[in-house]
Amino acid sequence: MADQATKKRAVTGFPAWVVDKPLPDARPEAILRNIESVATPAPDGVEIDVDYTSINFKDALALTGASGVLRTLPLVAGIDAVGRVREAAHGFEAGETLVVTGAGLGERFDGGLSARTLLPAASALRLPDGIDARTAAAVGTAGVTAALAVRRLQAVGVDPSAGRIAVTGAGGGVGAFSVALLAKLGYEVVAVTGRERLIEHLTELGAAEVVGRDAIGSERGAPLQKARWAAAIDSAGGVPLANLLSQTAPGGYVAACGLAASADLPTTVLPFILRGVSLLGVNSVDASRTSLESAWDLIRTLDPSVFAAIAPRTEPLSRAVTVARDLLAGKVDGRTVITLHP
Ligand SMILES: NC(=O)c1ccc[n+]([C@@H]2O[C@H](COP(=O)([O-])OP(=O)(O)OC[C@H]3O[C@@H](n4cnc5c(N)ncnc54)[C@H](OP(=O)(O)O)[C@@H]3O)[C@@H](O)[C@H]2O)c1
Repeated sequence: MADQATKKRAVTGFPAWVVDKPLPDARPEAILRNIESVATPAPDGVEIDVDYTSINFKDALALTGASGVLRTLPLVAGIDAVGRVREAAHGFEAGETLVVTGAGLGERFDGGLSARTLLPAASALRLPDGIDARTAAAVGTAGVTAALAVRRLQAVGVDPSAGRIAVTGAGGGVGAFSVALLAKLGYEVVAVTGRERLIEHLTELGAAEVVGRDAIGSERGAPLQKARWAAAIDSAGGVPLANLLSQTAPGGYVAACGLAASADLPTTVLPFILRGVSLLGVNSVDASRTSLESAWDLIRTLDPSVFAAIAPRTEPLSRAVTVARDLLAGKVDGRTVITLHP
């Protein structure tokens, strides 16, 4: 008689959150299952054992079946990945820890919500000095995007003496890192949040003032409103972004990062042609290596307590979809790191 052990089928492969469409007309679904390999069309794939990743807004959309994030199905979700190189390849040694934020991971090819993945070497960075693997995931795409937005403002000459800088979605990942980075550089930051309970947290991150979303206006206001901001970093899009543009001082700048409120932009040309306001686009997915390194140089200046304050929770891979649902429902304060070694 065969004993129990020989009757059991061996479990092979490794766990990953795979998003797929069960039926042609169905909504995509994320399932945690064992897979044998991951795929990348990048010619310079470097295989890593993933140690940490995180749940970004885009991951939350992908994991809950929203259309528009994943360009192909089935696909392993996860736009960030931090982990150790399995075999030396493309200039990286076995065992080195690499971080990738964006670069098509979890959108165009298999991503980081997996025990193993393939990173495009062109976009892979060795851990920046002073940043450990968990912290790199805590920063993730959100922190890198915030740093790219700050760099955009610096590049056009917005300096700390410019005046008040508004940050919308301040309780979210991009927003919280924007507040912390701007404050660290000496800017006067006004954090805009829909969550009153975050006032103390955002003040500790360095906001000079914390205001509710109503301060910007949830209804579309006049095309030109009282000028209140020297510049702004916006995660919301939609009406909040339109109102920010209408409230920005002559010659000011608004860096647009996101669409948490809407992908629409119901504005007029008046802020641009009567006040010379400029809208700056921020795209972290395709950021050049030079831009990424410059972003991490800025991020490295933050006090370690900031990373812990913005990303206080670590959850196992199995909880990714639960975290995603909670994030979209506004129930998650701060970023959540996903660990592969709970
Ligand atoms: N351009 C890029 O390369 C890039 C990179 C990363 C992220 N993004 C985009 O940036 C946005 C933020 O990403 P994230 O990872 O920081 O997400 P997140 O952590 O979920 O933060 C989004 C924040 O937006 C605010 N918000 C939500 N609904 C809103 C509404 N209806 N009106 C105004 N504010 C609203 C909330 O902050 P409060 O509760 O504090 O108001 C929320 O925490 C997303 O749209 C994401 O897709 C873009």
